[in-house]
Amino acid sequence: MPGRLEPKEPTRRDFLGLAGLWSAAIAVFWSLIGMLRLPKPRVSPETSSVVRVGTMVDYPPGSSRVLPEHKIRIISTEKGLAAISLICTHLGCIVNVNEKGFSCPCHGSKFDPDGNVTGGPAPRGLRWLLVSQAADGSLVVNRKKEVKPGQFYQA
Ligand code: FES
Repeated sequence: MPGRLEPKEPTRRDFLGLAGLWSAAIAVFWSLIGMLRLPKPRVSPETSSVVRVGTMVDYPPGSSRVLPEHKIRIISTEKGLAAISLICTHLGCIVNVNEKGFSCPCHGSKFDPDGNVTGGPAPRGLRWLLVSQAADGSLVVNRKKEVKPGQFYQA
């Protein structure tokens, strides 16, 4: 017969209670880590806001091209040329281009081909960026200057 001062064998109930407590503590810990990381956009720092993207010859009307290194999509229509930012307006992830427009891999925002929000947490549409032409004829996109959606550059 065990004495009063001898340690008791843990019961099954004690073990399950302790396991539940540790599981809850680990879940709370990782949730806090996730919440602390959420406000920081996961994009690399920009080097220059003004980038050269080729010439008008590279973008015949009806074409579009994604330039991942600059995080923009150039679309060319009969109205002219436009650059749409690929940076999600929710928390700054890089959106993917698909047949329906754009979709964000981070929290599921969806955008139509013009960058308008069609679903998800993004508060506004993708930014349309200022396109101009340099003296040497090359097209220049300023990624810091926004224009009204639907505003095309015409040479
Ligand atoms: Fe959250 Fe794009 S970063 S939906």
